[in-house]
Amino acid sequence: MTESTAFLKATLHMLAPWMRAPGEASVPVAAMVPIRTLAPNHRSRILAHLLALDEHDRYLRFGYTATDEQVERYVTGLNFERDEVFGIFNRSLELVAMAHLAYSTHAATASCAEFGVSVLKSARGRGYGGRLFERAAMHARNEGVNMLFIHALSENSAMLRIARKAGATVQRDGSESEAHLQLAAPNLDSRLAQILHEQYAEADYKLKKQARHFWDLLGLMQDVRTGVRDARQRSAQ
Ligand SMILES: CC(C)(COP(=O)(O)OP(=O)(O)OC[C@H]1O[C@@H](n2cnc3c(N)ncnc32)[C@H](O)[C@@H]1OP(=O)(O)O)[C@@H](O)C(=O)NCCC(=O)NCCS
Repeated sequence: MTESTAFLKATLHMLAPWMRAPGEASVPVAAMVPIRTLAPNHRSRILAHLLALDEHDRYLRFGYTATDEQVERYVTGLNFERDEVFGIFNRSLELVAMAHLAYSTHAATASCAEFGVSVLKSARGRGYGGRLFERAAMHARNEGVNMLFIHALSENSAMLRIARKAGATVQRDGSESEAHLQLAAPNLDSRLAQILHEQYAEADYKLKKQARHFWDLLGLMQDVRTGVRDARQRSAQ
């Protein structure tokens, strides 16, 4: 662990007891997942992530079996200025999970937002879906949203479990279900928690990027060494 990651983890550990609302369960620091806020320059990674979802997952995510073209249109249409997009990267900087927090564009429902999420099959069951939901709910709360909606198919047990676990009310209407979570008003603690999460995710991303550059460089040096050795062997023959 580098100094900066250790510092952030230690800070979060220190602040954890008073970052919780009264009666709120504690989240162990070890379980923290670095979740980054994505920007327009991440569009190609978002597209690659969504295109990697199979037909059934696309059906669960979008409510219909989105074709590649429909997925492309969705990614092109993402409005990063109005909405928030969150992502979790693995060590190779592949986007393994992402969530879209879409703010309502209607005046009558101005303080509402909708949550959509996807996690690559290879990264499921590690709590990423749940963490993205918590992160989006914290962000929405700090933006003054008081109701967070999740549309899910009734067969989507994992998504409905995430929503119920967070305290959302789930209403089933045949093959479709709608969950809504009432959010508390923002306060200093919720804002501070968000800043710390963002800093932690930024530090993590930078470290992964540096590590990738290091391994790329090492690979390049090994190629050069192999080339030099082969040339030497050829000239000795
Ligand atoms: C729904 C989805 C995001 C869950 O991602 P994930 O990272 O695996 O979720 P988590 O690891 O946080 O698990 C969530 C909970 O659901 C439970 N769960 C997972 N799969 C389940 C299943 N098939 N049936 C019942 N519960 C399940 C987990 O045990 C966990 O509960 P726990 O915390 O009490 O153990 C993922 O399956 C996915 O991308 N599906 C396709 C797209 C989609 O359905 N999006 C949601 C609609 S917007």
